[in-house]
Amino acid sequence: MPPFALFSFTFCVSALSFTHVSRYTSTATAAEDCVLRNSFQPGFVAEGDFIIGGIFPLHYNQEMPDQNYTYTPPPVKCNGFDPRAFRWVQTMRLAVEEINESTELLPNHTLGYKIFDSCAYPLTGQRAALAVLNGLSEADSPMCSGSSPMLAVIGESGSAQSIVVSRLLRPFRIPMVTISYFSSCACFTDRRKYPTFFRVIPNDDYQVKAIAQLLLHFNWTWVGLIRGDHEYGRFAVQGLLRELQGSSVCVAYQEMIPLLYNTQRALEIMQVMRRSLAKVVVVFSAEGEMTPFLRDYMKQNITGIQWVASEAWVTASVFTGREFYPYLGGTIGFGIRKGHIAQLGDYLQTVSPQRYPDNVLVGELWEALYGCSPFPSSANRFPVCSGQEVLLKQHSAYMNTSSPRVAYNVYKAVYAVAHSLHNLLLCQSGNGPFENDSCAQSNNILPWQLQYYLQEVKFNMAGEEVNFDLKGDSVPYYDIINWQRGTTGSIEFVNVGLFDGTKPGGEELVIQEERIMWAGHQSEVPVSVCSPSCPPGSRKAVRRGEPVCCFDCVPCDSGKISNQTNSVECIFCPEDFWSNQDRTSCIPKKVEFLAYDALGIPLTVISVVGASLTVGVFVVFFHHRRTAVVRVNNSELSFFILFALTLCFLCCLVFIGEPTVWSCMLRHTAFSITFSLCISCILGKTLVVLAAFTATRPGDNIMKWLGPKQQRAIIFSCTLVQVVICAAWLIDAPPYPSRNTKYERSKIILECSVGSSLAFWCVLGYIGLQACLCFVLAFLARKLPGNFNEAKYITFSMLIFSAVWLAFVPAYVSAPGNYAGAVESFAILASSFGLLFCLFAPKCYIILLKPEKNTKQHLMGKEKW
Ligand code: TRP
Repeated sequence: MPPFALFSFTFCVSALSFTHVSRYTSTATAAEDCVLRNSFQPGFVAEGDFIIGGIFPLHYNQEMPDQNYTYTPPPVKCNGFDPRAFRWVQTMRLAVEEINESTELLPNHTLGYKIFDSCAYPLTGQRAALAVLNGLSEADSPMCSGSSPMLAVIGESGSAQSIVVSRLLRPFRIPMVTISYFSSCACFTDRRKYPTFFRVIPNDDYQVKAIAQLLLHFNWTWVGLIRGDHEYGRFAVQGLLRELQGSSVCVAYQEMIPLLYNTQRALEIMQVMRRSLAKVVVVFSAEGEMTPFLRDYMKQNITGIQWVASEAWVTASVFTGREFYPYLGGTIGFGIRKGHIAQLGDYLQTVSPQRYPDNVLVGELWEALYGCSPFPSSANRFPVCSGQEVLLKQHSAYMNTSSPRVAYNVYKAVYAVAHSLHNLLLCQSGNGPFENDSCAQSNNILPWQLQYYLQEVKFNMAGEEVNFDLKGDSVPYYDIINWQRGTTGSIEFVNVGLFDGTKPGGEELVIQEERIMWAGHQSEVPVSVCSPSCPPGSRKAVRRGEPVCCFDCVPCDSGKISNQTNSVECIFCPEDFWSNQDRTSCIPKKVEFLAYDALGIPLTVISVVGASLTVGVFVVFFHHRRTAVVRVNNSELSFFILFALTLCFLCCLVFIGEPTVWSCMLRHTAFSITFSLCISCILGKTLVVLAAFTATRPGDNIMKWLGPKQQRAIIFSCTLVQVVICAAWLIDAPPYPSRNTKYERSKIILECSVGSSLAFWCVLGYIGLQACLCFVLAFLARKLPGNFNEAKYITFSMLIFSAVWLAFVPAYVSAPGNYAGAVESFAILASSFGLLFCLFAPKCYIILLKPEKNTKQHLMGKEKW
């Protein structure tokens, strides 16, 4: 930044320092002590009883002079004449003239002004502020008296400039009220730093809030931020980041356009924009840096960018040209409140080179609007104007008076000063607000006295109440502005909604979406996200080291669901419910049990077939009960066995169907008792066989102990043991139906819980014990003579029986839920068939197919088979 002294201002303080320096330089003469090195001329001046200053950015850009300190630096060159700011200047003049004409406001006094161009640059703004302080003429400043003939300054536009102006006035102890019409930076709320600062524009804290809500409203969760290198940009970005913190919006990048524009840096920024998925770019900047930036942007052929403009450039007329539409069309942003200034249109038209023949600014306006220069000079880049040029509506950059926004602020600011002055002058001595109830002296008003009245001022302007809060701020209200193509192809600012900061939270933003035209002339809302949203049924999984807006979508685990887009978590289904295929809703779990289905029907059929076969055998035996085969083999026991076997087969049926309290109790007990009965009978039979043959030896009286009665008693008592175990089981901890949700979490398996596993294994163990005993005895008897030695078949049947049940144990233990029942049924069926075939098939064979062998002799082995 160039040193302060570069401008060699003539303000008294600096003049003193010059004197100070010259005292030590022998070459300096007293006459040279205070020389005006450079003058800074105001753009417009008017005399009056009370003078107010005005600082406006009549140029949006400034070229820095060469600073090599070997010669006097040339004056700074301002570039880019801004007709809009010129309109503001005219608005200020209009307001002053209106007030002077008014008989109600400041009736016997006139207002004057002195308006300077700041070139939208802080240092030039400072220069302008100093020039304002000097009063009407720079040369004979009465400044050193300690107070300024000026009371207030309307300015500046940019916050950076306003800061400089406000700060400048403090160290020199020159209180002067600054009323800004465009400086919205949140930094001004610090009353200690800026005690004399007022403004008629809302604080940016509201704007960033509005922008954050806008981003959220359109679901733009991945956005870029670009700002200019000034306080306004810095504080606005800071504020926006604070607003976005904890919300679903993330910032993809933050870039800063350098103060001294540099294409290289701008191209880097554009590279970032091009690469990023963030299609929405929020820009806190003004014409100054945006103009060169957009020029370069247009050359880069970047498409699909949706600009969100801050209030500083959302109504900037420099960008309304047709050439901008393809790149800037669709821009949306918050514009400050508009107002109505009745006389403005006519007043603006009164400006002409004829009326202001020496005014450089008017010349520049003509150059900007007509491309011709009204004042012929050798340095002109433009042809000389014809003099016939008329200001028309189409010169919208200057003439647009349909919705003055900043101009309206300027107007308000002037009126605020006038009203305060008016109130100040109305003060009656002895009744005043100051010490000892005094009033301000009308011929020597001190700025702090005016400040008091400004703080208190309250007036109505076209239905709107104007006043300042304690921080000097005004009411937060914004229009939402959308850049659409007008009939001539240039850009028009269309109002598509509003943000009213005074409304309760959530109701501030009102958007008429259907009226918005988006970037690229689209009617659909642009998408600006890092990752596409996660559909219901999945959840977000944040990528490591990346912002929360960048995520992957992972499908919910089974048993969990998410029914909203972008769920952060999948939620567990309630008990007895399970996720559907898409994981979007919870459905009741499937209830499963061994039903009459693919597994149940064959089991039923087999058991019925088994039972019928057994009954068939029973019939055959009964029919041939008198034949040798039946009689030799202890017919009564055979019938018992057949009876028990039928029951065994039928037992199986209890395992099929939905488990109930009764079927559960019946399942194991019925089967164990029938099996016990069956094996007891077989055991009895084996004993008889063994006894019959051992009894042939003399002296043995075993047969006496194994008469039919005893046999029945053995069978009965053996079965009774099982009955007792079962009874104990049923009384103590009976099997009960239960819902198994552990095996397969998506299903409810209805099964019978054994109640007491000890009892269950006891029951099985007892059957096993009987079977083993039977096997051992039969094994001993297998070698005994006789063609039809039943012991052989019993051994064999017991082998099959044991094999089946040994296989059953591991299968049962590992079989899941409803299959355990099926395994048990199969074991029952298999072992029953085993017994049925081993014990009865050979006999039936003889009875039915070889009746000739059905004789006692043959069976006793006296005959060959
Ligand atoms: N609201 C902006 C500010 O407070 C408006 C503005 C005017 C601006 N001129 C500017 C912003 C120049 C940046 C640069 O500063």
